[in-house]
Amino acid sequence: MEEKITIAVLEGTTRAQRRSIMASHYVAEFGRTLPGVEIIFVDPNDFNFPGDGNDPEGKDPRYTEITARADAFFIVTPEYNHSFPGSLKRMLDSELANYNHKPVAFAGVSDGNWGGTRAVESLVPAIRETGLVVLAWDVFFPRVQDIFDESGTMKPEFEARYAKNLHKLYDELIWMARLFKQARKV
Ligand SMILES: Cc1cc2nc3c(=O)[nH]c(=O)nc-3n(C[C@H](O)[C@H](O)[C@H](O)COP(=O)(O)O)c2cc1C
Repeated sequence: MEEKITIAVLEGTTRAQRRSIMASHYVAEFGRTLPGVEIIFVDPNDFNFPGDGNDPEGKDPRYTEITARADAFFIVTPEYNHSFPGSLKRMLDSELANYNHKPVAFAGVSDGNWGGTRAVESLVPAIRETGLVVLAWDVFFPRVQDIFDESGTMKPEFEARYAKNLHKLYDELIWMARLFKQARKV
């Protein structure tokens, strides 16, 4: 039997009225349906990153433990002023070694038609410096307010498309996670 793969799904903002949380919950719940996968949902509102950087005062030990356990990451980020939120940057910056040689997938979210593409594109050079390994494609949630209903459930007309795209992305993420997990033992 194949070894279990642990994926940390990161919500990208702490904003009280955030809609990206619907997309990140969808991504996490989808991952939980996949065999041999453990999902850890990371809501930055549940953590405390008191300062910038990866010195002890910048860390939350619970996030440190999650990043150590994770074999892969899935970041769901809204687009703020053509970039990703500062709270996501602070969370990412709080660790370093635990990211090395682990793959990461991205999902972008916006209330307009671009779907957070600029947020994802601006993440790529920052993520490269962490040692995380980016995939070749992403999933986007443009006009997120139209995709989910008031309760945060995806509307039926979107389900087939998102299931197909997410399945493809998770397959790639898990495949890379297995490769890198073996390789990190060498
Ligand atoms: C500070 C801020 C800046 C934003 N900048 C952009 C932007 O540059 N491009 C865009 O498409 N949407 C932008 N938005 C709107 C978000 O796409 C929208 O809020 C969406 O619901 C996803 O973010 P949320 O999870 O915070 O709700 C911005 C929202 C905030 C709060």
